[in-house]
Amino acid sequence: MKVTVVGAGAVGATCADNIARKELATELVLLDIKEGVAEGKSIDMMQTAALLGFDTKVKGVTNDYVATENSDVVVITSGLPRKPGMTREELIGVNAGIVKSVTENILKYSPNTILIVVSNPMDTMNYLTLKTSGLPKNRVLGMGGALDSARFRYYLSQELKCSPADLNAVVIGGHGDTTMIPLIKHATWNSTPVTNFLTEEQQAKIVADTMVGGATLTKLIGTSAWYAPGAGTAAMVESILRDEKKLISCGVYLEGEYGQNDISLVVPVVLGKNGWEKIVDFKLSTEEQAAFNKSADAVRNMNDVLKTL
Ligand code: LAC
Repeated sequence: MKVTVVGAGAVGATCADNIARKELATELVLLDIKEGVAEGKSIDMMQTAALLGFDTKVKGVTNDYVATENSDVVVITSGLPRKPGMTREELIGVNAGIVKSVTENILKYSPNTILIVVSNPMDTMNYLTLKTSGLPKNRVLGMGGALDSARFRYYLSQELKCSPADLNAVVIGGHGDTTMIPLIKHATWNSTPVTNFLTEEQQAKIVADTMVGGATLTKLIGTSAWYAPGAGTAAMVESILRDEKKLISCGVYLEGEYGQNDISLVVPVVLGKNGWEKIVDFKLSTEEQAAFNKSADAVRNMNDVLKTL
């Protein structure tokens, strides 16, 4: 199996590191536009192979798309990350052009690949990638739900004083501070609803903290986070390449599901060798569906900005 990660910044490099350590691919190409950066980070990673005992061959290249030929999965992390105080949406002007050109270049050498879009604003970048690539909808996925659901489990585990591994919790909607919807009423601690153990105030705080999880880290670090975004992306790559059929929240193109059309939003999907293979209907309450529709309106407004660029 061959994977390409475009963008050797913190998120791209961490994603590549996770893929290599888990030996998800035999060949892994890390591509960046900055001369030498992908080469350097790849050599650094390869120098951990003797210590960590993995066999994935990581190769770094500067803008050389020929090296990406026949990739089974391509992760797009290119573009600017957000700075403290910025929303993901403010990045659209710069990142749309970058993501479009990366998609076109990738498809020249891997016309049947599966694309995972990490660049922000993710919902709109994934929509743009879908439209630009012309790939079947199942082969284009946005990363955000995997990350946001992991952050949701973190905040739940802090409040419940339990292992995040024992929690089932899902975020849907958009990958934005005001558009993501942590489905707390559906979350369980080893099958028992978490709402049995948490007051309404505690629940509201967990939901609010999850929604601004990325912004909280941006403020602390001075730039966008990378460990959980990198691991979230690698988890998606793993379910696809190993055909695990894991149920993971991802940004996908909706055609009537969850009451929405012609938009990419985050919903729970089964991930396997064909990309996303099935959208799972969580049967939302009236309130949850209203929140989902509101997120859709916000994402649709952002998608409309694409026409003005
Ligand atoms: C974050 C970025 C990856 O949420 O959107 O950290």
